Amino acid sequence: MDDLERLADDIRDAETVVAFTGAGISQPSGVPTFRGDDGVWDKFDEGQFTYGRFQRNPEGFWADRIELQQVMFDGEYEPNAAHEALAAMGRDDNLEAILTQNTDGLHGEAATSVREERTDEPSILELHGNSQRVRCIDCGKRMEDDPIFERATNGELPPTCDCGGVYKPDVVLFGEQLPGAVIQRARSLAGESDVFLAIGSSLVVEPAASLPRLAASSGATVGIVNLESTPVDSSADVVVREDVTDVLPKIRDLVEK
Ligand code: APR
Repeated sequence: MDDLERLADDIRDAETVVAFTGAGISQPSGVPTFRGDDGVWDKFDEGQFTYGRFQRNPEGFWADRIELQQVMFDGEYEPNAAHEALAAMGRDDNLEAILTQNTDGLHGEAATSVREERTDEPSILELHGNSQRVRCIDCGKRMEDDPIFERATNGELPPTCDCGGVYKPDVVLFGEQLPGAVIQRARSLAGESDVFLAIGSSLVVEPAASLPRLAASSGATVGIVNLESTPVDSSADVVVREDVTDVLPKIRDLVEK
């Protein structure tokens, strides 16, 4: 039996299957990854986007954030076959939750495209927030990002809320705590999973990267789908070094067989 067949058998027999995704699942949609060839962190310095810099120098932070957003999210991008395969596995009751480090909203779009067919899609936890929104750090008001980026691009640096507070991209910045409830829920899902699939992530950023290890230590079958090696490979039961858009539809079809 090959690795994918083994994973599919375990998924079919599982009570709880959890998928954990990173930038690699959106790479085929045209969203750049952070590390590896031509990664975002080859063009920008992570230090430009820390929470501390946002607090010390919101104007400089926003000037750089506009550039980052243009590089990461220029033009339209759609969910790809890997996003659709996970949404379909949820529809087939073979996927409990998607824990994503991505802030591109593509898992939600893939689920929405099938939402009219069912109500209980897999829950999607955006561990690092969502780049399509901003939030006022004083009153907490959330807004779609486009009009605010427009104002910032036209010179309103930093963009401010009607209440006078500064807007912050609704993402978790380096040095910023993940919301307690979100990481707690993610940890309990990883701990109770029977199968944990880590897809398109270099698994180097904590606390998210500890989730596959938590799943493994709780007895889950851990499968990693990633073009490059990761520090968690040795704890995984199955490692697949192929493109997400080839592997995920194959897994879904094998489970459905
Ligand atoms: N198929 C399979 N794997 C792929 C594909 C693909 N088509 N394209 C890229 N990959 C793999 C790369 O080999 C790489 O190991 O996806 C991984 C992406 O790793 P990163 O760019 O490090 O992205 P991620 O793991 O999501 O980063 C975590 O770091 O900078 C922070 O907040 C940011 O959420 C991000 C976090």
